[in-house]
Amino acid sequence: MRARVPGDKSLTQRALILASLAEGESRLAGLLHGGDAASTAKALRSLGAEIPPLPPEGGEVIIRGVGLRGLCAPKARLDLRNSGTGTRLLMGVLAGCEAEATLTGDTSLRQRPMARVIDPLSKMGARFRYLGEVGRLPVRVHGRRPLQAIDWPSQVASAQVKSSILLAGLTGGAFALVTEPRQSRDHTERLFRSVGVSVVEHAVGDGWRVEMRDPPAVIRPLDLHVPGDISSAAFLFAAAAMGGAGDEGVTVEHVGLNPTRTAFLDVLERMGARIDIELQPGSDAPDREPVGQVTVRPGGLRATTVQGREIPRLIDELPLIAVLGARAVGTTRISDAEELRTKESDRIDAVVRNLRALGVEVAEYQDGLDVHGTDKPLRGAVRVFRDHRIAMGFGILNTLRSCTVEVDDPSMADVSFPGFWALMTEVERAGRRSD
Ligand code: S3P
Repeated sequence: MRARVPGDKSLTQRALILASLAEGESRLAGLLHGGDAASTAKALRSLGAEIPPLPPEGGEVIIRGVGLRGLCAPKARLDLRNSGTGTRLLMGVLAGCEAEATLTGDTSLRQRPMARVIDPLSKMGARFRYLGEVGRLPVRVHGRRPLQAIDWPSQVASAQVKSSILLAGLTGGAFALVTEPRQSRDHTERLFRSVGVSVVEHAVGDGWRVEMRDPPAVIRPLDLHVPGDISSAAFLFAAAAMGGAGDEGVTVEHVGLNPTRTAFLDVLERMGARIDIELQPGSDAPDREPVGQVTVRPGGLRATTVQGREIPRLIDELPLIAVLGARAVGTTRISDAEELRTKESDRIDAVVRNLRALGVEVAEYQDGLDVHGTDKPLRGAVRVFRDHRIAMGFGILNTLRSCTVEVDDPSMADVSFPGFWALMTEVERAGRRSD
């Protein structure tokens, strides 16, 4: 079967932010019309940006930017609901603005660590006040311009941390240099280049360094068609790899193929799936996002190990790999992935509990897990813990005849993938047709 998936969540949020900060009209198509995009758009509107309603099917929107100094203090708290990316990126934007604002979120977001961005932003000269527990939302931000230059050695490979610092440098007119232990997704760097901000990057040992030495006073508007989110397509690919879509598998068109995001495809191939990738010629330039078409066909799945530098390149797909591991021959091991404990839920804990609830044997570690594959039917109820990727990761099992999984809060999928359950029904039908 052929399908398209909603626009990339990371790119949508960055595009909304940069379009709001640009001088002139940005033209954006393919934006995600999901919960996280809506939360970031709403927060930006409260800061004075003119963002029209986001069109449901990814149609075009025009955003007239207010400029790097044009945002104003919001009248009420900014509630980012479930969006960690929106929160951390906006903290960076606000750090370099003279507006004060309070940020908060839902029960999931209020448990997530914020010091990882607040520490470097404070070092740049912005002030933050925790209104509840230290290190968590709600937080009051007192921005300042100009900010001081920073050369930050990040302890975590996090694009949210890196992007927050770069955005603070942009709005606060300061040099921003960041070194991360491994390279994380580089959407901010690519988008910065496309709006006229010069960013240099290079490897340092196992790590990665990004330098913005010359923040401009003005950025150009964006003209961007956001590709489909590879992290959303991953659910279709995983269902196809297990045989849920039948022998023909699934082809996803116009999906993002940024190399800092595609390691899940490498893992699927290692596990035995058959994969064809057609990169759109010319899309892989330093100021663009690679895009193309991917087909995944089933193969007899075998276990694999995922660790080290591969982790940041598939961080959001790890719960899905654990679920695939449950259907593979052998023991699938995920390690070096402690970051999973800081996501929308503690994803190691959520995956372990849910796999066990389905009768799968799992060993839990602080930085990962071992999943013992089985071909016995998986049946039972799973909990979502306000985490879209947990809902969808276990939801794909229902495309297999032998499995019946009851997901306690399917609506969480709307955070990043409106229409997910309808597409899963199509996958299942495609699977039945090929029986
Ligand atoms: C994101 C980065 C990742 C990822 C999240 C989106 C981004 O988080 O898990 O879903 O858009 O920058 P970290 O940067 O914290 O690893």
